[in-house]
Amino acid sequence: MANKEMAAIVLAAGMGTRMNSDLPKVLHKVAGRAIISHLLDTLDQSQISNIIVVVSPNSQEISSSVYPHKTVVQEKPLGTGNAVLSAYTALKEFRGDLTILCGDVPLISVETLKAISDKRSEGFDLVLVGFKPADGLAYGRIVTSPDGSVSKIVEFLDATEEERGIKTCNSGLMCGDAQKIFSWLKEVRPNNSKGEYYLTDMVGIAKESGCKVGLVLAKEEEVMGVNTLKDLANLEQTFQNKRREEFMLKGVQMISPDTVYFSYDTEIEPGVIIEPYVFFGLGVKVCSGTLIKSFSYLEGASVERSCNIGPFCRLRPQAEIKEGVHIGNFVEVKKSVIEEGSKVNHLSYIGDARVGSHVNIGAGTITCNYDGFTKKHTDIGSGSFIGSNTCLVAPVSIGEGSIIGAGSTITHNVGKDSLALTRTKQEEKEGWALKYRTRKSKKKEDQ
Ligand code: UD1
Ligand code: CA
Repeated sequence: MANKEMAAIVLAAGMGTRMNSDLPKVLHKVAGRAIISHLLDTLDQSQISNIIVVVSPNSQEISSSVYPHKTVVQEKPLGTGNAVLSAYTALKEFRGDLTILCGDVPLISVETLKAISDKRSEGFDLVLVGFKPADGLAYGRIVTSPDGSVSKIVEFLDATEEERGIKTCNSGLMCGDAQKIFSWLKEVRPNNSKGEYYLTDMVGIAKESGCKVGLVLAKEEEVMGVNTLKDLANLEQTFQNKRREEFMLKGVQMISPDTVYFSYDTEIEPGVIIEPYVFFGLGVKVCSGTLIKSFSYLEGASVERSCNIGPFCRLRPQAEIKEGVHIGNFVEVKKSVIEEGSKVNHLSYIGDARVGSHVNIGAGTITCNYDGFTKKHTDIGSGSFIGSNTCLVAPVSIGEGSIIGAGSTITHNVGKDSLALTRTKQEEKEGWALKYRTRKSKKKEDQ
């Protein structure tokens, strides 16, 4: 079987009515990525070369999101069986195995896909993937004959009480010879409570025509489907738990793993410690020896070794934090490089900037990078010291080793090793405060 060509059809043309959302169901995200993309990524890693996504008319959004995968249109949402038949023309000449997947069941593993093709090699004409969920909900039930072989699938809505009691549910994933599948599907009739052409009815038809139907059991975490936003949140939890576990086993320490959220592409090296309540958006990489303190939000950022990040820190896209840097509370960094050993410890905004190495950025420093029209660059030389509450009005550069006095608004470039400050001179009126208080209290007493 391994050398035989394989195709897959991913069903994504349903209405997704139960989501109560304007966004097509399969474009809802888990760990920052559309659920259908999770599935397509797994298929790309398997031996399946010919992948077709079935979409509804006017679903340009899905087509462009799955590109370069091929799409075919199911003209009307007449059911999952009809959806598979929509790909018939595209696969008419195809001779090989066809795997059918639901776009709303995204966490299938490559191992399960392999288990299916192994089962096919044992001589089963059609292989189903079933699972035994803790709560069977509205899943279709896989009915077996007294000899233990699969005889049919019955949809929950059409099932008898006894059938609803069956523990083995249909994941929606199945595989068989492509041309046989199409011929079985052509016999399916919409004789059911929904009046739809059910893909699941094909199983009974195959069985009755004398074919052998095999069953592979998968873990619930892999085949849970998304029909509602509640299911989506469950799927997110499942994904996050799995990722947390993988990271911890690899050597990433989390004090309260349940409160840390990752994106599908988050990269964390062993030896990183993550405190409670940290969120990783898309495209983050963190290197060994770094500590991420609570309530930090990172996206599109890279953090090198041995840094201290947070608490309450926001790293935005293209924040490049080099080795040994400290970024403290209420600090936002965007599209900036902070070089080795520098410290930005309190209440600062660093945007469109380069901060050289061993720089100390005082509390409340702001790079004023935006004039309402364009973004401008700030360059802060290595070894410089920026006093607290400084505004650096870009474009501006601060020379190496220079000192900026606290409270300055810097609008001109500052040379190497200089002191720059923009303050009015301090005035002191000796005894003034005492006189003032005496005068004011007297006035109050007289009233
Ligand atoms: C389906 C199965 C059920 C199984 C469950 C697993 C059928 C009839 N039922 O039920 O046995 O337990 O999945 O999650 O197959 N779709 C189309 N065109 C259509 C209808 C649906 O492309 O006309 C797509 C949907 O976009 C979705 C998938 O097919 O991705 C499944 O459809 P859905 O309506 O969610 O089926 P379930 O009720 O979940
Ligand atoms: Ca579904």
